[in-house]
Amino acid sequence: MTKEARYLHLIPELSSLLDESDDFIATLANASSAIKHAFKDFSWVGFYLLKKDELILGPFQGLPACVSIRVGRGVCGNSFQQRTTLVVPDVRLFPGHIACDSKSLSEIVVPMIVEGKGLGVLDIDSHKLSTFDETDRHYLEQIVALILEKVSPLED
Ligand code: SME
Repeated sequence: MTKEARYLHLIPELSSLLDESDDFIATLANASSAIKHAFKDFSWVGFYLLKKDELILGPFQGLPACVSIRVGRGVCGNSFQQRTTLVVPDVRLFPGHIACDSKSLSEIVVPMIVEGKGLGVLDIDSHKLSTFDETDRHYLEQIVALILEKVSPLED
């Protein structure tokens, strides 16, 4: 199955999974699991959520990870600050990359923004180089938009 076909299979599945709850954390927890299990090369899938001035570890699937990341630090903090998706083919070449898992070699981070407010990021790691490309950026941005359409913590 191509990467695109996997996303096209995952998105409707995720959409019905997200109908099951309007709780933000429960939704992120199930979303991280569904994304992780759809792709064998994704070693870690999770969310960091803004609390006070830091990104704090949220629901995830994978090995234990760094619990807090300063805005502007690492791939996550840079994506959040710049409000743009960052695709990193080789994390060893990204200045300031935070190595939670020494086996991680590539990464993608998608910011979560609602009504102009940055809420956090979706972070995905891989143990292989160059796992992520424009196809991932396209569909993962759609997935983040889908999540934020269904559940917004601003409504809580
Ligand atoms: N590598 C990330 C830190 C989070 S872990 O990958 C789970 C970064 O540089 O922001």
